[in-house]
Amino acid sequence: MSSIQNKISSIFPFERDIPEEFRLRQQVNQKEYLVNGELRLWDGPVQEVLSPVCVRSSSDVSQKVIGSYPLMTESEAFQVLDAAASAYNHGRGHWPSMSVYDRIAHIEELIRRMPAMKKDIIRLMMWEIGKSRRESEREFDRTVVYAKNSMAALRGMDCASSKFIAEQGIIGRIGRAPLGVVLCMGPFNFPLYETFTTLIPALLMGNTVIFKPPKLGVLLHGPMLGAFRSVFPPGVVNTVFGNGNQVITPLISSGRIDVLAFIGSGRVADLLKSMHPKPHRLRSVLGLEAKNPAIVLPGADLDLAVKECVAGSLSYNGQRCTALKIVFVHSRVAGCFLDKFADEIGKLRIGMPWEKDVTITPLPEPRKTEFLTELVEDAVRYGARIINARGGKVNRTFFYPALLYPVSTGARIYEEEQFGPVVPVVPFDDIEDPVSYIIESSYGQQVSIFGNDAGMIASLADVLVNQVCRVNINSMCQRGPDIFPFAGRKDSGEGTLSVSDALRLFSIRTIVAARDSGANKAIFSEIMKDRKSSLLSSGCPREFFKLEGHLPG
Ligand code: G3H
Repeated sequence: MSSIQNKISSIFPFERDIPEEFRLRQQVNQKEYLVNGELRLWDGPVQEVLSPVCVRSSSDVSQKVIGSYPLMTESEAFQVLDAAASAYNHGRGHWPSMSVYDRIAHIEELIRRMPAMKKDIIRLMMWEIGKSRRESEREFDRTVVYAKNSMAALRGMDCASSKFIAEQGIIGRIGRAPLGVVLCMGPFNFPLYETFTTLIPALLMGNTVIFKPPKLGVLLHGPMLGAFRSVFPPGVVNTVFGNGNQVITPLISSGRIDVLAFIGSGRVADLLKSMHPKPHRLRSVLGLEAKNPAIVLPGADLDLAVKECVAGSLSYNGQRCTALKIVFVHSRVAGCFLDKFADEIGKLRIGMPWEKDVTITPLPEPRKTEFLTELVEDAVRYGARIINARGGKVNRTFFYPALLYPVSTGARIYEEEQFGPVVPVVPFDDIEDPVSYIIESSYGQQVSIFGNDAGMIASLADVLVNQVCRVNINSMCQRGPDIFPFAGRKDSGEGTLSVSDALRLFSIRTIVAARDSGANKAIFSEIMKDRKSSLLSSGCPREFFKLEGHLPG
């Protein structure tokens, strides 16, 4: 038996093999939910949580039961909604009326408390979604940095808008106001980061929030609940746990959710939006499916292209919305590209999430290995071969990466998003083939072009920027850095997220204006001098706040 085959067959540990610091000594049963500033005890039915990590015993190997979470009902969902709505109180609540700087102070306090929870959150992330320790730590740190950068961006935005504008005999100050109650639902693959990249800007802008953790990746939010409770006024942050049709359907159908921030499937997003009785009153912030292609041109540096494509398609087992999910390779370089790619897959470490330098780990979604196997078998029926040794081998929740070539148009994986460690490669001779693929695709998030011909890259980029939202040159697709805009065309999303764009998405521009008369200027001056209004006065620190300079003379 080869060493990879050996490793796959014995990939799951005995409990005694798990290093002490990563062991889950006892089940984590989430018994409380946060509503109106209170951690309320749940004594109803619960959902058992299975880890993608299987553990061996002398008689079998099975997915470890790691805990449970509440299966709340419509009645608790409405309590949570009432709490969020009354904290918002039509924009008159304490939180939405607070100055930007006071809200920032609350978020700073939340972030100050996070490092103490890091170890627990990372351990749970490894057990719940099988993310490697390195990637889990990265996700945690990135979340904290995102929150800090959001606060800095808001300070800048607030200072920039503290000027009065005079135009055609009217003076006014333009600011941003909250939208109301925001429902935040993140995905399983970045349960902390993707939830916080909507939750933090929503809060900063003065909205109140209900958040529902993703189906997988629930327990890791537990450590945060106490901090939410003590840092924020009652009702500003609330949680619901359970099945979407029990807790989310009633929330949206009530018509009292003002913003839906959802990262997940387009099918669910459409369903949720359709439930709102007044769809035009619902702002949607959506991150949906993608099928980001790589195009490898003749003349590309193949070592670099392979390195980027391996990372792009297989980091966290390919479970990134931005992952490269199909690779078009010019037929002149396809042979060499595939050899190098297969070689690199062979070097990837496979194992349990806490193992050093591990890349390929067990998959958390139920029946995912069956789904990926079906995709591979279907592609093979359509003429593809599995190029790498042991590609597609399965051991329970573990799936060894499969490199498929040549994948043809009829195969399901040509269009379907695999969201897992299967890399379909398509040969091309005419650049129109990958370009038409992108034009005809339902998705429009990103593309990666690998090549060295500046003219060719330029003309491709010019065409592709009108198809997708980011064109990467000799680099894999990715969302970061977080100050870059992250968006999707077609079925890949709605709204642009980035540190500063998100602040705009969760707010609306408002203006206080008046005829440019001496009397009105005197009123404005007095309001600003005594900081009588949070919108008009701005929280901008005094040194930036030159009252006279901001008022038209
Ligand atoms: O799943 C989508 C994540 O936001 C990916 O972020 O591309 O920067 O790793 P990333």
